[in-house]
Amino acid sequence: MGLKGRDVISIRDLAREEIDELLAAARRMIPYAEGRKRGHALEDQILVLAFFEPSTRTRLSFDTAMQRLGGRCVTIADPGSSSIRKGESLSDTVRMLSAYGDAIVLRHPNEGAARLAATVSDRPVINAGDGAGQHPTQTLLDLATMQEAFGTLSGLKVVLLGDLRFGRTVHSLAHALALFGSQMVLVSPPQLRLPEEVREQLDHAGAKVEEEEQLHRALRDADVLYVTRMQRERFGDDLEFARIADSYRVDTNVLAAAKSRLIVLHPLPRTVEIAPEVDGTPHAAYFRQASLAVPVRMALLSLILTGKAP
Ligand code: NCD
Repeated sequence: MGLKGRDVISIRDLAREEIDELLAAARRMIPYAEGRKRGHALEDQILVLAFFEPSTRTRLSFDTAMQRLGGRCVTIADPGSSSIRKGESLSDTVRMLSAYGDAIVLRHPNEGAARLAATVSDRPVINAGDGAGQHPTQTLLDLATMQEAFGTLSGLKVVLLGDLRFGRTVHSLAHALALFGSQMVLVSPPQLRLPEEVREQLDHAGAKVEEEEQLHRALRDADVLYVTRMQRERFGDDLEFARIADSYRVDTNVLAAAKSRLIVLHPLPRTVEIAPEVDGTPHAAYFRQASLAVPVRMALLSLILTGKAP
């Protein structure tokens, strides 16, 4: 059906062939993303960035992606500065926003907010994170990083470590990994296990998923270690947060048992879960991952707004 005009709310909205098409387009975008080639594909297009939760990478990389292709952005970066603060409903806000630009990128603290926005918007809506729900565009750049490192996405063994309960990036990523036939090993504090609903969807999709308590056991033969931050802002209970706050941490000691080609990914921001000493090792791929946000989002915006990617 093509990606032109489509909403991207959950990674499950994309078929495997569409993800392949996006990743191939993202590879072609790298010289444009790095400023070595000039792009004009999105001239005259305006993207609305509506961010009702903090963001650094996601918002700025969407903005850069748009500008690298000649387009422009209008932005709500601080919820306190919009009329939501005056009591306006999300539906009313989104209805207006869809008149101000050609597509909307929405980040919101409520799960389901992006789906709701898509029902009232005349323009495509891209979910940049809805509470503990989904973050599909992060998944695309996670996949792009793995593909760059290994040349393929099939047959990888991926360890998902950390806050699997509230971490929306892993909810999206797990579905994509299932689609590509990767093997997943889940490692988390017991209070932060992957939600039952996500687990059932994965089982239903025939995904190869196991849980492991010991990180060093999970790391055996692993190709990718995907680490997430504890999502403190989604914790109701500060005491419970404090109890498990330091329960996992990746350092060079932990990685000593890993394959030499293992890559460590993290959607960032990191807090304490990856020791800075890992940054200088060949395992660290999280900064490369963050930089691939630009070509990946350029590819996505081109395909959604024009139906093609240069
Ligand atoms: C993630 C998010 O917002 O879900 N950040 C990002 O977009 N790179 C991860 C996080 O906040 O922990």
